[in-house]
Amino acid sequence: MELLLGQVLQFNDTPFQGRPEDAATHIQRGAVLVKDGVIADVGEADALRAQHPDASVTDMGDALLSPGFVDTHVHYPQTAIIASWGKRLIDWLNSYTFPEESRFGDASHATQIAETYFDLVTAAGTTTTVSYCTIHPESVDAYFTAAQTRGLRVLGGKTCMDRNAPDNLQDTAQTAYDDSKALLERWHGQDRLSYVITPRFAPTSTPEQLEALGALWAERPDLLMQTHISEQHEEIAWVADLFPDARDYLDVYEKFGLVRKGALLGHAIHLTERERDRIRELDASLIHCPTSNTFIGSGLFDMQGLMAQGHRIGLATDTGGGSSFSMLRTMAAAYEVGQLSGTALHPAQLWWLATAGSAAAIHLEDKIGRLTPGYEADIIAVDLASTPGIAQRAARAESIWEAVFPTIMMGDDRAIAAVWAGGKKIR
Ligand code: GUN
Ligand code: ZN
Repeated sequence: MELLLGQVLQFNDTPFQGRPEDAATHIQRGAVLVKDGVIADVGEADALRAQHPDASVTDMGDALLSPGFVDTHVHYPQTAIIASWGKRLIDWLNSYTFPEESRFGDASHATQIAETYFDLVTAAGTTTTVSYCTIHPESVDAYFTAAQTRGLRVLGGKTCMDRNAPDNLQDTAQTAYDDSKALLERWHGQDRLSYVITPRFAPTSTPEQLEALGALWAERPDLLMQTHISEQHEEIAWVADLFPDARDYLDVYEKFGLVRKGALLGHAIHLTERERDRIRELDASLIHCPTSNTFIGSGLFDMQGLMAQGHRIGLATDTGGGSSFSMLRTMAAAYEVGQLSGTALHPAQLWWLATAGSAAAIHLEDKIGRLTPGYEADIIAVDLASTPGIAQRAARAESIWEAVFPTIMMGDDRAIAAVWAGGKKIR
């Protein structure tokens, strides 16, 4: 039994209804009791110390104890090409992404990048990732093996593509189905690993491949499915050319049984009214990737409008189209995109999006993303004065959210003082 001491913030509610600051409780000198990898109790430090005198105590001082960050859309194979200059989506894929992804049939390359990736993201306070791998089963094995060794709860799957990609990055409708099935049987439900069915996006799959993956999802409705939608205008026009019978981009996925609860739709920037309504009706999740949407020049996600409509929304880095591994930087970008769209997202909304909100978007809201008894002990300690610039601003703060906001806007991995995954300290 371990008792972690620090400031504690607990969300009891969504901060997108009512006053954002009312959604969370703040304990200045708080404690989280961890037992067998699970949060056993949360409360005032003095009270929990008195109730659990035999627990070992780890005192994080003024650091903020928070659930680990949940990154709901990444491409770990793009780790080494993050921050590649000067292209928009289609050219960026062809110039940087596909050549690098071609290397992941080599298990040792895949392993090396997966190790680097998890070192980087855990240092940045992320304890759950939802990743696209490459078409190579080796890339999936490397990803899950690296996560399993660290005791992380992660999700991911083999990216399927059978057209409009280099020959050595294409599978077929049948091999996409067979490989995905074999991989999900190997990995899904092992420790804290979950398989996600992963057609890359409509332009790189034939109708036959989308149909095969829709059939696989129908066989295994308990899994999640991830893909991309409406990221850039050129992409949307290309989809209209490739699927002339579809009403719109979403309709392509709908026709193959790929839109329902459990679908994770990345980017979703330029949706039509019909698409927005239908996604809401079917309760699919939208994934906001703000650093990517500005870096690749895609556009502004309508967070406030979609939230008001009742959408289920997660936050994500989209490594390496995104320009950071850090969910702090990602929250900052979400704030900036919000400002450009006319709405200042409250720090409570940003923090919730990176934790409980993202957990709900991937249907793990009963397991991760909250400091609540019974939840898995994926916890980070965040130093709210990690650099001189942040410290001098936080010193003026008159509320917890004013103290947190400088770290959201200016913080990086230096702010992450410690990380526990399933109750075990990994950083
Ligand atoms: N659309 C299809 N594939 C990708 C990808 O790898 N990154 C981004 N940002 N968009 C995509
Ligand atoms: Zn992506």
